[in-house]
Amino acid sequence: MKTLLLLMLMVTRGSYSNITEGPGDGKAIFENECSKCHGKDGARGRFGAKNLQKSRLTDAEYLKIISNGKSIMPAWKRRLSGEQINQVINYVKELKK
Ligand code: HEC
Repeated sequence: MKTLLLLMLMVTRGSYSNITEGPGDGKAIFENECSKCHGKDGARGRFGAKNLQKSRLTDAEYLKIISNGKSIMPAWKRRLSGEQINQVINYVKELKK
């Protein structure tokens, strides 16, 4: 199962590869994929989404919930590469107040 996951990550890698590297990627991914529930500032809370400005998760917990999803929150590991998930985690941490 782990191997399959890794393979899927490798296959999906690079789908956004032409977007410039850097912290801007996390922002673009967040605004495209996450803001419909979490809002651009992370505080929207649609469909019971958590307020990301108040979130106090460790990196490992972010990785887990974003990769695997929870309740209505989709699992992103099929749609985003490992690198993109890391970029979006960095951006989510910037939203914290
Ligand atoms: C369809 C709506 C939806 C979308 C799209 C969505 N989320 Fe969520 N998210 C949720 C919901 C609902 C929860 C609360 C899950 C729970 O704890 O039951 C949540 C929880 C979270 C949490 C946990 C916060 C905490 O403090 O517990 C993080 C981090 C998070 N989302 C990040 C993201 C990121 C990053 C994206 C985009 C890649 C994203 N979400 C896209 C609905 C969504």
